[in-house]
Amino acid sequence: MTVCEYKPGLEGIPAAQSSISYVDGQKGILEYRGIRIEELAEKSTFLETAYLLIWGELPTEEELKAFEHEVLFHRRIKYRIRDMMKCFPESGHPMDALQSSAAALGLFFSRRDLHNPVYIRNAAVRLIATIPTMVAAFQLMREGNDPVKPRDDLGYAANFLYMLNEKEPDPLAAKIFDICLILHVEHTMNASTFSARVTASTLTDPYAVVASAVGTLGGPLHGGANEEVIQMLEEIGSVENVVPYVDNLLKNKAKIMGFGHRVYKVKDPRATILQGLAEQLFEKFGYDEYYEIALEMERVVSEKLGGKGIYPNVDFYSGLVYRKMGIPTDLFTPVFAIARVAGWLAHWKEQLAENRIFRPTQIYNGRHEIAYTPIDQR
Ligand code: CMC
Repeated sequence: MTVCEYKPGLEGIPAAQSSISYVDGQKGILEYRGIRIEELAEKSTFLETAYLLIWGELPTEEELKAFEHEVLFHRRIKYRIRDMMKCFPESGHPMDALQSSAAALGLFFSRRDLHNPVYIRNAAVRLIATIPTMVAAFQLMREGNDPVKPRDDLGYAANFLYMLNEKEPDPLAAKIFDICLILHVEHTMNASTFSARVTASTLTDPYAVVASAVGTLGGPLHGGANEEVIQMLEEIGSVENVVPYVDNLLKNKAKIMGFGHRVYKVKDPRATILQGLAEQLFEKFGYDEYYEIALEMERVVSEKLGGKGIYPNVDFYSGLVYRKMGIPTDLFTPVFAIARVAGWLAHWKEQLAENRIFRPTQIYNGRHEIAYTPIDQR
């Protein structure tokens, strides 16, 4: 076997062949199944895009209706899962609650029939349908309230906002939330998707696949950055403080949250769209003073680090959008997961179609032939 050079973070190493999405990091292009993200954000819906990613083609009108209908009727969670979630500590992070709840779904559907397209479809529908209900239920229950049941007359995005706030959302907010889901649904071989594919490659069940990916998404270097961006803007407090704040981070070699990307060396196209969505929300529902700080951050960081290809990524402006919708800061990453579950499922299905268990190697740099030292001599 040829010995390859070790690349920390597996930078530049292909881990799979995939036809699900494509990124050109130099030009700032993102495509899902060959369709540019800008076009999908303008013309598609989250469920239609999810279908495209998982089954490879845009659905016909009939196929889409059937899929939407199936998702609609699988949105409720089992009372045992609800009761289990009630026992979670209210101080626990919602991502941990989501990871545990997604894994718990596997207890109810433990049969593994991975060669059966009906099994694959049912699992995909169930996960896409119930994850938003779990996120909203934990939010209400940690505040001491009973969860709100999904409403059959509301679409996917509107229903989530309804379950979260117990109030029918403004149509513009629901539309923008749906676009946010499209923007977050898939992004090639990122850490959580890799995690999903590794788990999938063992032929375990899809609930374990999604639970492992949720756990990976939560870290601040990945999906957790959206939450940290808002905390950072809060800490900065004013436009004047941006330069000293950035200088201090750079002096300490700390990462600036919401900036930089392994693949993009220009501004992330999703950040550009999200910024536009934030502006639409400000126009209708009022300005957010954090936006001024964010704009100054973008200007200052681009000036100082643009030479290294460091610009805003997807997590930089998404928090401002969610904040305007009244979504609590620690739900930003679970909201990311609501969208990304469809991307993970597309990768699960693709992995199964041509599976070989992931079993990379390592470069051992430890010792050999060491004698065992009895405990009283250590
Ligand atoms: N702030 C300051 N410097 C940075 C940043 C940043 N956000 N990102 C990269 N750099 C510098 C880094 O210090 C290094 O400089 P040098 O070559 O002089 O040592 C160079 O750029 C390369 O950085 P790296 O850490 O090797 O890059 P990576 O590809 O391993 O990491 C990243 C990518 C996204 C983890 C990193 O940019 C980062 O930590 N960003 C902040 C966290 C964040 O916003 N994460 C969300 C990522 S996008 C959405 C998602 O995946 O969920």
